[in-house]
Amino acid sequence: MRVLVSGGAGYIGSHTVVHLTAAGHDVLVVDNFGNAKPAVMARLDALTNTHIPVHAFDLTDRDKTERLFATEQVDAVVHFAGLKAVGDSVQRPLDYYENNLQSTFSLLRAMRRHGCSTLVFSSSATVYGDQAPLPYREDYEPLQANSPYGRTKVMIETVLRDVAHIDPSWRIAVLRYFNPVGAHPSGAIGEDPQGIPNNLMPFIAQVAVGRRDRLRIFGDDYPTTDGTCERDYIHVEDLAYGHVAALNRIASTDEPIRTWNLGTGRGTSVLELVKAFERASGMPIPYDIVGRRTGDLPASWADPTRANEELGWVATRTVDDMCADTWRWQSQNPNGYEDV
Ligand code: WQD
Repeated sequence: MRVLVSGGAGYIGSHTVVHLTAAGHDVLVVDNFGNAKPAVMARLDALTNTHIPVHAFDLTDRDKTERLFATEQVDAVVHFAGLKAVGDSVQRPLDYYENNLQSTFSLLRAMRRHGCSTLVFSSSATVYGDQAPLPYREDYEPLQANSPYGRTKVMIETVLRDVAHIDPSWRIAVLRYFNPVGAHPSGAIGEDPQGIPNNLMPFIAQVAVGRRDRLRIFGDDYPTTDGTCERDYIHVEDLAYGHVAALNRIASTDEPIRTWNLGTGRGTSVLELVKAFERASGMPIPYDIVGRRTGDLPASWADPTRANEELGWVATRTVDDMCADTWRWQSQNPNGYEDV
């Protein structure tokens, strides 16, 4: 199929472009490059051994979005594009609601107008909020995220369910990611956050490569195995392949919409990840234990059974794989894509 990947120059998007191409799909990208570097596209051309066409504009521009669908054949869309930093969303909620919702509305309308009804949507485990029992299951209700970013995901999931209800010709996969980490094993593409990383793994990687002095661990007094928070870290390669599996599934069933968790089903603590990264990199990760970060949950991990059974998909890569691949990317690209 000809697949449009929105946000395809981003971290998860770029890895998914590689896997979609490897699966035989013909991929094109739309990205506003607000949180991605154009340099990644040359890396994608090299990794896929083809040229990935890219349209550089923001999906909130309805005219440009309409023109894209009027001029390009698009059979399916994988929709990553959006603002995604939890803390940032608290500081500028209107930007997050406007960008994430408007870009999705603009996309859905253009898809509908041009007979494209197959969509894979990038959602997040953050929609489970802080009341859901572990492990998180897709049928949990009510969804109640704790940040404007998370609430945009809940709202978009709700819009998609309503759209699919009134028009069952849609084929929509909602994928709830847990904690994506890692990099393509070549080291050519990886996570390249702008500024100071909010997330744990890229911060650890920047300490290891000498860009940051010390890691701050936000609390070690949680009710967990070692007092630090536990998360379901999932390798971005497993995550990318999950999108291929979901696309295959919705292209071959008559279910208008279905939700799947993409996680390993296992929790790893902050300290466990630090130790794994030290093993993988051979580099010390000095850290200080500081106060808790507002909004952090003690633990979060998936029940991945539905995806295992219905998509034939299992996350196979270990935490050591995640750290080794992250380190290869970071050590080969100490300043991310800036080096190009
Ligand atoms: C993991 C653990 C921190 C940084 C976020 C979003 C979620 C999703 C994935 C988009 C926590 C601790 C972190 C640091 C630390 N993004 N930590 N020092 O918060 O589980 O999930 O990213 O969909 O929506 O909420 O990931 O990597 O920020 O934190 O101690 O410098 O690492 O306290 O316990 P999180 P994270």
